[in-house]
Amino acid sequence: MLSFPVTRGIRGAITVEANAKSAITKATCRLTQMMMAANQVRAEDIACIIFTVTDDLDAAFPAAGARQAGLTDTPLLCTNEIPVPDSLPRCIRALMLLTTNLGLTEMRHIYLGEAASLRPDWAAQGDAEIDIKSLAYKSSEDGKAPSYRKAILDIAPYQPGKPISELQREKGVSDVIKLASNENPLGPSPKAVAALEEALGGLHIYPDGSCFELRRALAQRMAVDESQLIFGNGSDEVIKMLGLTFLEPGDEVLFCQPTFSEYAFAAHLMGATCRVLSLADDYAYDLEAMALAINPATKLVFICNPNNPTGAYVREDAVREFLAKVPDGVLVVFDEAYYEYVTAPDYPDSLKYVREGRNVVVLRTFSKVYGLAGLRVGYGIAPKHLAELVHRVREPFNVNGLAQIGALAALSDEEHVAKSRLTNSSGKAWLYKELSKLGLMYIPTETNFIFFDLGHDSETVFQRLLEQGVIVRSGSVFGCPTWLRVTIGTFEENERFINSLRKALGE
Ligand SMILES: Cc1ncc(COP(=O)(O)O)c(C=O)c1O
Repeated sequence: MLSFPVTRGIRGAITVEANAKSAITKATCRLTQMMMAANQVRAEDIACIIFTVTDDLDAAFPAAGARQAGLTDTPLLCTNEIPVPDSLPRCIRALMLLTTNLGLTEMRHIYLGEAASLRPDWAAQGDAEIDIKSLAYKSSEDGKAPSYRKAILDIAPYQPGKPISELQREKGVSDVIKLASNENPLGPSPKAVAALEEALGGLHIYPDGSCFELRRALAQRMAVDESQLIFGNGSDEVIKMLGLTFLEPGDEVLFCQPTFSEYAFAAHLMGATCRVLSLADDYAYDLEAMALAINPATKLVFICNPNNPTGAYVREDAVREFLAKVPDGVLVVFDEAYYEYVTAPDYPDSLKYVREGRNVVVLRTFSKVYGLAGLRVGYGIAPKHLAELVHRVREPFNVNGLAQIGALAALSDEEHVAKSRLTNSSGKAWLYKELSKLGLMYIPTETNFIFFDLGHDSETVFQRLLEQGVIVRSGSVFGCPTWLRVTIGTFEENERFINSLRKALGE
């Protein structure tokens, strides 16, 4: 499963007994339903279907079969094939174009009955028992469980980086390093740890639902009003709250790919539509294309800056030009999870647009440079009237008490932040050099991770790294099967990663 939808085609074929309207309609209906059921396709996912029939069949009838399968509004094209000597007689072929989260190899092409001989390699997929009733999205095999919202079927459950303990169990490797989730390799701020230890005795008390202390400290630091801050159980939750606040079915959410998966999650959760563009040639968000893609249905625009997984960033001038083109009624969200690692001088000051009262929200987190990913604190900075709307969908105690205390202490730990940045910049320079020595192409990064291309399927290398106790992130979860993403670690971790990579590449 991909974390974002892409356009793909499903092939299918079926034969009929006779050139009769009822036989052709029935066979086409069955073929269409099987293709949809086997690939979990809903009518609204289908862009169009092309049906071709051999010249011994009437091309007028497949359309009726597709309509009978429930595709009342789907564009269809039905036509006769050029006669081919010795071809299978009375055959209906289909090409269904659709949007799907399934990977290329997960698609099931359906060749039924005699038509199985056309594609013996795919025939088994059609022979497998497919529950046509699954089209109705029943909640359980026996239909006893409650029905559920169809929109959630678009959500691919989040695939986190492999936990260390899991790898230890699976491979029996004891000395594991995790460079998969862009955590701080130096660990949490020592000041945060000390504050947390002291706070443990107060766990029986509910947290401060307003995050008062943390709110005041952050507002001062960023020169915004306290009312402009939205806190979440990680910035993940702020993204979800933005969806809950602003999205309705029919709304479009615009972003580029590959990118962070939570934007698609928020859209799907609310039954909104993802409009996904490619990144620009420099692997950052393509703001020019995005400006052109905005239409009356566009409600939310996410800009991951710097982008995860590529590490590339959009520049100040591009952001200024983009925002000048964004119409009223569209909310632009800058996800700046890696903000504290950025050193590029032309990185945009997106908070300026929030202060100007534009429809802009900026997202930041304590999970990265502050080393508190396990505590879960993220925040958004928005114009006051928008923040007030988002507060309506917030759980009363969504940021736990320890998280607030840890984040406040970490915020004041300038020494830890400086050390973390330094470790990152020296690690980055060293990894650039080593990846270049291995002849591997990497994308210059403004974050604490590097995305690099092996030039061939990266799965084997990913597995070989795991066997050596090194967990990185496979590019395939981002739809980039030849790439890997590695978090910049301590010097020792970086060295071990490169040595293991060298071995994995057979050097
Ligand atoms: C771009 C981006 N946004 C948001 C997040 C989520 O951060 P948090 O831990 O605050 O939920 C991540 C985490 O990796 C990320 O890469």
